[in-house]
Amino acid sequence: MAAKDTKDISPEHVAIIMDGNGRWATARGRPRLFGHQAGARRVREIVEACPELGVRYLTIFAFSTENWKRTQTEVAGLMALFRRYIEKEAKRLLKHGVRVRFIGDRLRLDAKLVKLMDDLEVLTSHNDLVHLTIALNYGGRDEVARATKRLARDVASGKLSPDDVDEETLPRYLDTCLLPDPDLVIRTSGEARISNFLLWQSAYSEYEFIDTLWPDFTAEIFAQTIGRFGLRERRYGAVAV
Ligand code: IPE
Ligand code: IPE
Ligand code: MG
Repeated sequence: MAAKDTKDISPEHVAIIMDGNGRWATARGRPRLFGHQAGARRVREIVEACPELGVRYLTIFAFSTENWKRTQTEVAGLMALFRRYIEKEAKRLLKHGVRVRFIGDRLRLDAKLVKLMDDLEVLTSHNDLVHLTIALNYGGRDEVARATKRLARDVASGKLSPDDVDEETLPRYLDTCLLPDPDLVIRTSGEARISNFLLWQSAYSEYEFIDTLWPDFTAEIFAQTIGRFGLRERRYGAVAV
C-alpha cells in the first residue's frame, strides 16, 4: 500500500505540555534553571518543524497558574527567561512566518514582560504559516472562570440572553477563541496527567504521553509522534464506519 501523504493525516493543532526540564537539569547535577534554558532552546526546532509536518497551530505550555508555588528563585528565573526568549526570537519568528499569541492571565505578570508579549503579537500579526500560542500564567480552570465572568457581565448588561448560552457560546469567551481545538496533546517526561491544560478545548483531543524529557525532545521525535497520530481513529462518540 502506498504511504499516505502526511499532510492529509496531520493534526492541524498540536498542543504540548513541555515537562521535565527540572529533572533533566538534576540528572546533570545542575540547577533547575539550567534545564529551563535548555528547554527554551528546544522550542525553536519544534516550531520550525511544523510547516513540513502539516501542523498549522502549535500551542505550548510554558508556565501554569500553579507554577507560582515554586521557589522565588525559579519563578524569577523563568520570568527572566521568557523576556529573553521574546527579545531573542522575535525577528526569527517574524521571518519564519510564525504568528505568536499568548494565552493565560496577564494581570499577574510583570509589566515589562506583558509589553514584550503585546509587541510580539502585533509584530507577527500578519504572519499565517504557523500559529504559535504560548500559554503563560495559564490554567484551564482559571481561563473558564475568567470567561464565565465576562459572559456573566454580558448577560447582566443585556447583551446576551441566558437562553442563548450553549456549547458554542462559552468558547467565544475563552483565551483560545481564535483557535481550533487541539487535535493532539503531547506531554513529555512520562507524567500521564494534564495539569490544568486546555480543559475545555481538549475534550476530544488525542493524547500522547512521551517519556523523553522536554530538553531532549527533538524534531525527529516530534515527527514520529505526529506520524502515530495519523494511525488513530477518531470517533467523537459515533460508531466507526
Ligand atoms: C516544565 O518542566 C517547565 C515548567 C513547568 C515551567 P518542570 O520544571 O516541571 O520539570 P520537572 O517536571 O520538575 O522535571
Ligand atoms: C505543567 O507541568 C506545566 C507546564 C509544563 C508549564 P508541571 O510540572 O507544573 O505539572 P505537575 O506539577 O507535574 O502536575
Ligand atoms: Mg514538571
